[in-house]
Amino acid sequence: MAADRAALGLEVLVTGGTGELGRAVVDALRSAGHTPRPMSRRPGRGQVVADLATGSGIAPAVRDCDAVVHAASDPQGDPQTVDVDGTARLVRACREAGVTHLLYVSIVGVDRNPLAYYQAKLAAERVVARSGLPYSILRSSQFHSLIGMIAREFRRGPVCLAPTGMAAEPVAVEDVAAAIVRRLEAGPSGAIEEYAGPERLSARRCARLWLGARHHHALVVPVVIPGRVARAFRCKSNLAALDAERGTVTFADWLSQHPGDRSR
Ligand SMILES: NC(=O)c1ccc[n+]([C@@H]2O[C@H](COP(=O)([O-])OP(=O)(O)OC[C@H]3O[C@@H](n4cnc5c(N)ncnc54)[C@H](OP(=O)(O)O)[C@@H]3O)[C@@H](O)[C@H]2O)c1
Repeated sequence: MAADRAALGLEVLVTGGTGELGRAVVDALRSAGHTPRPMSRRPGRGQVVADLATGSGIAPAVRDCDAVVHAASDPQGDPQTVDVDGTARLVRACREAGVTHLLYVSIVGVDRNPLAYYQAKLAAERVVARSGLPYSILRSSQFHSLIGMIAREFRRGPVCLAPTGMAAEPVAVEDVAAAIVRRLEAGPSGAIEEYAGPERLSARRCARLWLGARHHHALVVPVVIPGRVARAFRCKSNLAALDAERGTVTFADWLSQHPGDRSR
């Protein structure tokens, strides 16, 4: 049934359609013959305007959609209002509009780390799972750009700090977007799945790869970061199960393909 609908082309609202992942999802949907409807708080080409923080515009945004990819998030601002309460607003609108698949983008390890943002993502997952809507939840590992940005932040002149005991499985947003489109075409799983990058890299290795690709000469120095959040990362809370589905683009590939990215 879902496959029949997908073959005809799905009309898909993409919340966060202007964000890094959302843009890749919009492109992947288009390439697969579907009709994406990117959502933003600001008007733009082909975008529907809505704000999860206030609820304005959400009802018309979801109208006549087959599916919704929910990738909007406000990690630096107010995740309770946008990610948790905003997801509840979106869920209500989806129910009223009769949306038949809500796919929520989450993060690997949100259930194993006390970081406030992760706790908001976990609460949003629960809103989706208890919504009564047909749903899928895809927990992605950290995007390449985030790992690059962290390496940049940890560089202090001739030194680059590498948190001891931490690792990452950085993934390309294009790989995550392709995984999302496959799940939309397959129909709601009613489950939480993980999706990660092709490699497990220590923080030290990430720093070395980033420094090499950006032609910076710096000594990589291990540093122990205190606190419960760091401890959870040291316990590898952000790493996917070994049998999780994985993308193909390595961090080294991504660094060479993005010489002018925001992590420079
Ligand atoms: N970054 C990572 O490494 C990573 C890893 C795993 C999972 N994820 C998850 O993947 C998703 C996408 O992340 P990203 O890094 O691609 O995001 P991003 O680039 O930071 O973009 C955030 C998006 O959220 C939208 N947004 C923010 N506040 C909003 C509001 N009040 N109402 C409506 N839309 C709002 C923004 O739209 P406008 O500004 O245009 O309104 C923007 O499109 C998030 O759920 C994130 O938790 C991220």
